[in-house]
Amino acid sequence: MKNAMIISGSSNNSLAKSISKYSKIPIGKTKVENFPNKEIRILIKEDLKEKNVFLVQATNGRVNSYIIELALLADAAKRCGAKKIIAIIPWLGYSPQDKVFRKGEPLSSKVIVKMLESTQIDKFILIDVHSKLVLKMFTKPVVHLSAMPVFVEHFKGKLEKTSWVSVALDKGARERAKLFSKELGLPLVQFDKERDLKTGEVKFKKLEGNVKGKNVISFDDFVSTGGTRIQASKLLKQQGAKKYIDCVTHLIVPETTRKFPASKIDEIYITNTIHLDTKFKTKKLHVLDIGKLIARGI
Ligand code: R5P
Repeated sequence: MKNAMIISGSSNNSLAKSISKYSKIPIGKTKVENFPNKEIRILIKEDLKEKNVFLVQATNGRVNSYIIELALLADAAKRCGAKKIIAIIPWLGYSPQDKVFRKGEPLSSKVIVKMLESTQIDKFILIDVHSKLVLKMFTKPVVHLSAMPVFVEHFKGKLEKTSWVSVALDKGARERAKLFSKELGLPLVQFDKERDLKTGEVKFKKLEGNVKGKNVISFDDFVSTGGTRIQASKLLKQQGAKKYIDCVTHLIVPETTRKFPASKIDEIYITNTIHLDTKFKTKKLHVLDIGKLIARGI
């Protein structure tokens, strides 16, 4: 794309580099640091006059500071003459908080969406947002992409249809899982689960469908504590499943990777929407690059 530039926030420079590689859009020189009182200090060292500027910032980990940083980058980009500012937010912080469950709670995702829309950002590119509820909270243009094609491309033709089934880990995952199973030409089985609001503990109710002697694969949007897929893997094996592969777009708690080696999950595939420090990499875990998909989405 002519007359465009990528400005990377500090959350995921490696993904910004991958998007730049596939889109052939250069990455601008930016300095993000802190004042002694921890306030964020931004300096974009580029003339962005009349350019379409793509801000790349996954708002996870240091969620709150990455959100503020994104807002400041948008203002700085505007003052550098940007014609249009498009925020590529591979992981949208607070998006799982898309409902008020108890009196006294905020509708947190809506607060964040309104904050982001009050900045100089003109358009948003998001990846596998937790629910359609969040997408409906936006009034500015949103391009919503899914990492599913990255997983499908990786597994297409590798999963023998007679010996594999796809599983929906819970009701919320059903729509995605249905599409995923269709893309891979596999039958779909469905788990039902409930989560204790106080402890966050997951209780599986039942598995609709047969996995005896089958290999199982799942696709979902995010893994947090790992409770859902670790429990599911145990139950699947108890019900006679042979192998269980989990595909999930966002790993939002890096420490969770430490639970995978001892679990019944055989392999877990994530993407690089969220930067994963090498110290959290572990056996069974594979990271797929989503940079090409985002570059196509641009
Ligand atoms: C989110 O879309 C799904 O329900 C996840 O499978 C689940 O909520 C992730 O949470 P955890 O990893 O803590 O089970």
